[in-house]
Amino acid sequence: MLIEIPNVLDANKLASIRDMLKKVEFIDGKHSAGQAASRVKNNQEMKQGTQQAEFLDHLLMGSLAENADFRSGALPYRVAQPVFARYTQGMLYGDHVDDPIMGSGPEKFRTDVSITVFLNDPDDYDGGELIINTTYGEKAVKLPAGSAVLYPSASVHRVTEITRGERLAAIVWLQSMVRDPGQRELLYQLDQARNQLLTDRPDAPETKQVDRSYVNLVRMWSDI
Ligand code: NI
Repeated sequence: MLIEIPNVLDANKLASIRDMLKKVEFIDGKHSAGQAASRVKNNQEMKQGTQQAEFLDHLLMGSLAENADFRSGALPYRVAQPVFARYTQGMLYGDHVDDPIMGSGPEKFRTDVSITVFLNDPDDYDGGELIINTTYGEKAVKLPAGSAVLYPSASVHRVTEITRGERLAAIVWLQSMVRDPGQRELLYQLDQARNQLLTDRPDAPETKQVDRSYVNLVRMWSDI
């Protein structure tokens, strides 16, 4: 399941992020890819471990954590430091699946959900679509600045070649409390209905039934 989330970042935060990205150092993106992925990866990534990286990390992860759709769709358990990527003309990232395990030592975690946050306007560049293989075929995603897409880390995906301009995006990986993408999809849909019922008919018996079923399904399917 793909979940598109609009306005994860507002105009002010986007401006701060883009401002900061003009000042930071970018390095060849191959350094963070596994062996197979590095053969098809041609982009640049912001150098980690700097004060600027920490600032950007807090800004982005804070916004995601506040977003109810993100929490409901991803059910995050462990989250990686985001990667800020830049693609200039001629760059692309061929078909790959994301690394299954990230982090090191006790910080190690399984990647279940990948999130791409679009940081500049689609009119700023040609190409640069994120193409995700789904059960129903390929889906091309190119969203307005500040919007995000969630997809299973196991799905084959690619970024098409940039033929004009520059594409800026942040990528986040996380381990979900619920490993199975089908179960996460059911929970996401049930949560939508639950929230609507809690708003419209908070005291109705069916609202309580749906609410409790949701909560208990999360308990049943969580592998933490
Ligand atoms: Ni990827």
